[in-house]
Amino acid sequence: MSNWSEVVALEDIPRLGSRVVKTDTVNIAVFRTASDEVFAMKDECPHKQGPLSQGIVHGTSVTCPLHNWKIDLASGEALGPDEGCTNVFPVKIENGMVFIDFKMAVAA
Ligand code: FES
Repeated sequence: MSNWSEVVALEDIPRLGSRVVKTDTVNIAVFRTASDEVFAMKDECPHKQGPLSQGIVHGTSVTCPLHNWKIDLASGEALGPDEGCTNVFPVKIENGMVFIDFKMAVAA
C-alpha cells in the first residue's frame, strides 16, 4: 500500500540542487534535475554517509561532496568503479507539489 505525503513545492527545490526532508527516522534528500525531474533518496552516501544533499547534480546522478562518488538518483546505486547503494523513495509531482511515498522505500 502506498502512503504519499506532500513534502515540498517543486519551485522550492533549486535546479541541480536539493532540499532535505526530515522524518522521525531518516533525512531524505529531494533532488531536482535540469529538466525538472525529481528524485528522493536517503541523505547518506553509501561510502561513508556523506550528505548527498550537498552534492552537485549532473544529469540524473549526484556527486557526493566528501569523496566524489557518483550516485545514480533513480536507483541509489554508486556508479563507475565504486560499489554501494542508498535507499531511494518513489516520488511524484502533482500541481507543482512533490509527494514522497515513505512506505515504499526501496531497500538498499
Ligand atoms: S562519503 Fe560519499 S564519497 Fe565518501
